[in-house]
Amino acid sequence: MHVFTDFYHNEVKLSFKDHPFSKQPKHVWVICRYRDEWLLTKHKERGYEFPGGKVEPGERAKEAAIREVMEETGAVLKKIDYLAQYYVVGKGGHVIKNVYYAEVDKLIEQPTYFETEGPVIFKKLPEDIKTNSKFSFMMKDSVLTYCLQKIKTNKKI
Ligand code: GTP
Repeated sequence: MHVFTDFYHNEVKLSFKDHPFSKQPKHVWVICRYRDEWLLTKHKERGYEFPGGKVEPGERAKEAAIREVMEETGAVLKKIDYLAQYYVVGKGGHVIKNVYYAEVDKLIEQPTYFETEGPVIFKKLPEDIKTNSKFSFMMKDSVLTYCLQKIKTNKKI
């Protein structure tokens, strides 16, 4: 278990165990790889981030992950695996989020990307994400660092 604080100084607990905080988390976040690049979305307020969002009533977390990636980027996935789960105390209570690692098959242009401006591809994620105002707060804590490390040790990239 990794414990650290986020961009807003809220405490975050991150674990690579199988659903340690909740079997039915309400939030999902998907680290997406497209060919040899990273696929992000540009949220209209928050900026660049990996796609994700809330699990809808009656939906499974993994279904929500697949749906959110499609809505925010137009990506069809060829593979999606559970990677981690984190717990963060936010403004209106706690948030429990599943992190997935996904490989994109193809991008299909969408009529709308909802609250985002659609897909954005990065060959390399910049070194200065933590201080770069173009990036979302979600990209600025150690969830991303530890998850990228884990993906590397799993030899996925
Ligand atoms: P709406 O309910 O859609 O209006 O959004 P919201 O931002 O108020 O709610 P949400 O439940 O998504 O998040 C509540 C708070 O939890 C945020 O303001 C953040 O402080 C925190 N939070 C949510 N997601 C993350 C995340 O991925 N990382 C971190 N560090 N904090 C998060």
